[in-house]
Amino acid sequence: MQSRTDGVIIETAGISKEFSGVHVLKNINVEIRHGEIFGIVGENGAGKSTFIKILGGTYTPSEGQIFFEGKPVHIRDTGVAKRIGIATIPQEVNLVSDLNVYENIFLGNEYRASLWLLDKRKMISKARELLHDLHTDIAPEERIDRLSVAQKRMVEIAKAISYDPKVLIMDEPTASLTQYEIDVLLNLVRRLKEKGVTVIFISHRLKEVKRICDRVMVLRDGEIVSIDPTEDLSEHEIAKRMVGRELDAIFPEKVEGQGTSVLRVEGLSVKGVLHDISFDLKKGEILGFAGLIGAGRTELAEALIGVRRKTSGKIFVHGKECVVNSPRDAIRHGIAYLSEDRQGIGILTSFNVVANTTLVSLGKYCRLLINARKEREKARFYVDTFNIKTPSLETRLEFLSGGNQQKVSLAKSLDPGPEIFILDEPTRGIDVNAKKEIYDFIRQLVMSGISCILISSELEEIIGMCNRVAVMREGRIAGILEGDRINEEEIMYYATGLKGRAS
Ligand SMILES: Nc1ncnc2c1ncn2[C@@H]1O[C@H](COP(=O)(O)OP(=O)(O)OP(=O)(O)O)[C@@H](O)[C@H]1O
Ligand SMILES: [Mg+2]
Repeated sequence: MQSRTDGVIIETAGISKEFSGVHVLKNINVEIRHGEIFGIVGENGAGKSTFIKILGGTYTPSEGQIFFEGKPVHIRDTGVAKRIGIATIPQEVNLVSDLNVYENIFLGNEYRASLWLLDKRKMISKARELLHDLHTDIAPEERIDRLSVAQKRMVEIAKAISYDPKVLIMDEPTASLTQYEIDVLLNLVRRLKEKGVTVIFISHRLKEVKRICDRVMVLRDGEIVSIDPTEDLSEHEIAKRMVGRELDAIFPEKVEGQGTSVLRVEGLSVKGVLHDISFDLKKGEILGFAGLIGAGRTELAEALIGVRRKTSGKIFVHGKECVVNSPRDAIRHGIAYLSEDRQGIGILTSFNVVANTTLVSLGKYCRLLINARKEREKARFYVDTFNIKTPSLETRLEFLSGGNQQKVSLAKSLDPGPEIFILDEPTRGIDVNAKKEIYDFIRQLVMSGISCILISSELEEIIGMCNRVAVMREGRIAGILEGDRINEEEIMYYATGLKGRAS
């Protein structure tokens, strides 16, 4: 048998992948070293997920050969990958929602007391241990559908680690996590490295790539641009290589909101989750909501659009009280919501681009029949505006990259033509360049008089975009910041309870 270079755990030789004639990976030659943290970055649709799906056995390459520990391997399915010691934490949460946490962690890998009997006690205690290591207090017997996106991600991570892999692949593990969970996760990655585990780490957050990766590979249009020690590259240089040109300042200039209040929320509470929330949203302003995971930001959005039952409180649009008990009510009152959970209530992956963009606004395209031409024109408009990378308007969303699915989700929530737009993690999984496009677009929206609520776990985004920032803590608004007070320190003060009424 052929023996390859020492110290290399995975080598790919001439790996290519095409989907119906489209080459999404071209001639990937890379040596990943034993025990290193290997970063992969690139724009949305660059081929990052496709590459690691080949290593994880979800896809087989169209061409090329993979060597694992010096030996040629055919990773023809995920079972083979697991057996040789490659575990993947996928980009999209992939758990069975009506099973509970420990059942998901050990699905297909159950502990058995005997041939016929599962060892439930052992699985629960092992699950508790894994979750404890991740500093989360998720109960092993909790049902998956009761968890938040961030918590589900933690379960995915626990699941991958439970295999005790030699190589752990993480596809944007920190998307939708806040700084605290990110720190926990990055520490865990370091501990795994100390134990000799090799980690392949994909992220759009270049700061953490710099912080944690030993080397970084830049992909553009399915090809390797460069592979370098991370310490040799600045964040700026990495971004430049991803995009292939110099980047402009990412945040557009802020526009002041106008004085008139468009939305007023008074004393809104949701049992056990939100307590006495009151605020105003002015015309053409961007009001940010910051806070740690579990502070209640998404829950507030859900209460505003009628997905969560309010126990008390009033909502006024243009000074008139509105009853919002369903998303349909919300849309009628001009309130739209971009969900953070794009595959939950965001988009339908088995539907195509056109159907998804007009999912909630279909009424606009119907008289007696659906006006398919108008619908397509609108979809084409969004594909062009957001630079959505898709083979055609008829392509089903499951075939788009994560970031491009997110752009479709944004188009969908925008299409009803809202006056008030609630954006929950709008740039989750979006690359630096596309982020800028989305920020510019949000700016155009507010300039045309639309008011935005921006929920984001990226402080930089909150600080760069918002006119005012409400900081939430434990289901309350701890403080609302304006002007110079919109800075990281001040926000963290309120978010952690060192300042403000919730402390
Ligand atoms: N099963 C598939 N069938 C057809 N095309 C696909 C399939 N999977 C991925 N693609 C295409 O391959 C390209 C690369 O996608 P990939 O998911 O690897 O991108 P990515 O770098 O992970 O992007 P992101 O940052 O948005 O997650 C995209 O243009 C995508 O549309
Ligand atoms: Mg991806």
